[in-house]
Amino acid sequence: MKIAVVGTGYVGLVTGTCLAETGNDVTCVDINVQKVEKMKAGELPIYEPGLEQLFHRNISQGRLHFTTDLASAIADAKIIFLALPTPPGGDGAADLSYVLGAAKDIAKIITDYKVIVTKSTVPVGTADKVRAVMAAETTIEYAVVSNPEFLREGVAVEDFMKPDRVVVGTTDERARKLMAELYGPYVRQGNPVIFMDERSSELTKYAANSFLATKISFMNEIANMCELVGADVDMVRRGIGADERIGKRFLFAGIGYGGSCFPKDVQALAKSAEENNYDFKILNSVMSVNEIQKKVLVEKVKKYYNGDIKGKHFALWGLAFKPETDDIREAPALYIIDELIAAGATVKAFDPEAMPNIKGVVGDKIAYGNNPYDTLENADALLILTEWSLFRTPDFDKLSSALKAKVVFDGRNLYDLEKMIDCGFYYNSIGRKV
Ligand code: UGA
Repeated sequence: MKIAVVGTGYVGLVTGTCLAETGNDVTCVDINVQKVEKMKAGELPIYEPGLEQLFHRNISQGRLHFTTDLASAIADAKIIFLALPTPPGGDGAADLSYVLGAAKDIAKIITDYKVIVTKSTVPVGTADKVRAVMAAETTIEYAVVSNPEFLREGVAVEDFMKPDRVVVGTTDERARKLMAELYGPYVRQGNPVIFMDERSSELTKYAANSFLATKISFMNEIANMCELVGADVDMVRRGIGADERIGKRFLFAGIGYGGSCFPKDVQALAKSAEENNYDFKILNSVMSVNEIQKKVLVEKVKKYYNGDIKGKHFALWGLAFKPETDDIREAPALYIIDELIAAGATVKAFDPEAMPNIKGVVGDKIAYGNNPYDTLENADALLILTEWSLFRTPDFDKLSSALKAKVVFDGRNLYDLEKMIDCGFYYNSIGRKV
């Protein structure tokens, strides 16, 4: 099937590449000329495990194309995906100007039936807005479909190729058939393509992310309780996760959720509730718990040094908001670096992928290591902020000898408590004994 994808950000590129992988002919459009030239030359602008191989394969086999020309991209396409940014506006509500702008441009040039799919995370009612914008420009028939993405950064290719489910919001029969045909190869093992109306589909996306964020904030509060009563959050997590109604996944306490999705989507759903005169109490708590949780590690550090960390030097392992990504948007590391520096401390950090991005934001306010151990020299303590696999089994002897003091603050609960005690470390993690 001929497909166009408008917007080559993270979602657009993963969607376009993975759709090409099952034999579709995909053209990705972007207004950024330089970016398009680079992609044409085979340069992938984002880091995502597994994507590079698919990207090159589909370009070289002629199924994946890039252009800045919207008209040529959509001319023969049956389905047009909109994968454009929906940043939070000043009031917290999603800014739809990119999505509606593209819909208007598309409406001006279409000459036959098209299915326009919103892949971006958009507030309930957006499909109606897209329809209205298009109706003002054309009399050609089209369907506007909501098809939210549930990709996780770091495993996005796997999530796209083998989704738990695909949600499609449409009441247009022709569009429904085309979407079922398109997604058929991805759900061969029997996972469902769930069809529903557009509004339910739009809300499903916000509900999914908000529910997951709620799980995390809940566990972070349980962790705080554990510290007060002398319990261990890892034990509690295992104890409750074995109940299938609760589930094992997404119960890890830490230093708060970050990234480009959860903070934005929880805020947008709360805003949308407010606009509908509904006080969504749980969501407001989820957000305030997360704000507090981002501060927990720095509070622990300050408490250890009796409130004064001026002149202290810290090693930081992990800067990305989670492993397997170079993404630092809303990463707890940003907050923690600011707080440490404001309190007069110095920092040397290492992250396998996110250092160029952090450098772009904090520049030379901190020093950077070439590898994890390189950060430890003269450090009063090590702080762990992201659970990259390579931090999971470090050389503890090397760690002991390189650090000035054997002190570790772990925001991701990577190490066994007993082992750390045996090795003589002061080890302070989240929701576990010190
Ligand atoms: C999230 C959702 O998981 C995807 O399904 C969704 O498609 C995506 O948002 C989106 O809306 O685009 P992502 O932001 O890539 O994906 O990251 P997650 O793996 O979900 O992690 C989000 C945050 O929660 C991270 O900061 C992570 O450290 C934190 N987290 C996750 C915890 O603190 N504890 C956990 O148990 C799990």
